[in-house]
Amino acid sequence: MTDELLNHPGALTGDVRPTASYTLRVNGVERPVTDAWIGESLLYVLRERLGLAGAKDGCEQGECGACSVQVDGQLVNGCLVPAALAADSEIGTVEGLSGAGGASDVQQALADSGAVQCGYCTPGLAMAVHDLLQRNHRPGEVEARQALCGNLCRCTGYRGALAAVQAVADAREAALEAELDAAEQAAAAGPAAEQPAPAAAPPPQPDQGGELPLYADSELWHEADQLIPAQPQGETPRAGGYAYPPTPPHGTAVPADWQHGPAGTDPFGTAPAGTDPFGTATYQDAGAYDGTVYATDGYGAQYPGYDATPAHGIRLPEDENA
Ligand code: FES
Ligand code: FES
Repeated sequence: MTDELLNHPGALTGDVRPTASYTLRVNGVERPVTDAWIGESLLYVLRERLGLAGAKDGCEQGECGACSVQVDGQLVNGCLVPAALAADSEIGTVEGLSGAGGASDVQQALADSGAVQCGYCTPGLAMAVHDLLQRNHRPGEVEARQALCGNLCRCTGYRGALAAVQAVADAREAALEAELDAAEQAAAAGPAAEQPAPAAAPPPQPDQGGELPLYADSELWHEADQLIPAQPQGETPRAGGYAYPPTPPHGTAVPADWQHGPAGTDPFGTAPAGTDPFGTATYQDAGAYDGTVYATDGYGAQYPGYDATPAHGIRLPEDENA
């Protein structure tokens, strides 16, 4: 793609804003982009050139997650990805979640759980929840909080979004069990028997299916379940005997164990070793988690050891992955 871009007639001919033409594949549809400045972000191109205004422009700094989209199955902040670099990738936006039948199960669950007020954060949240449930069909509370920590909501808080994660996971699990029961009954009745009607309502439409390749399937988060120590105050008992600390808000310094894994692993699995893919990493060494709840507006270095909520894909410092 690079050669093609640099050889474009509009590029590098004394113009300080070289342009390129390329095609984005968005929600399975080829969308040509013509004579676009190569520095335009994926968010800008989606909204302003392709008319896909679902992803929202909140901060353009990788802080708020309102612009969350998937690129080759990875959740990214569209405001931080040059669109031209996504030309060879599969791009998924919130418009791709809903089908002809209306809202996807994730979107409906967010609405039902009270996670939508002004709605500005909702497309990004929907993409983050969708992404999480693609990777992990049964996320625990910590996993859900980690997955949503890059999405800021200024209206509702996050209880609704977390409830939506569990509601969708429950509904999909129930639908799958009903399907399996129906299949078992059909098998027991024999091949000549008439196929029984489905035992339950058809399963909610998972928005895009997908593999489970990343942290949810690794030992990372399952180990983390056991590594998080019980807190003396405000602990939340959990089935299985583990206890979690009280819910931290966005930007809370997390225990090193939450990042447990091979040195250099980031929780989103998107950063090449030793790099911050977007050059915007502001997540500083928070030191040992002492149970303190750090209030933050998510934008400034108000507290020692904390600068801002890490954006999707931001690489954490190596010393937090020990
Ligand atoms: Fe991209 Fe806020 S607009 S993270
Ligand atoms: Fe308004 Fe989240 S609903 S910012």
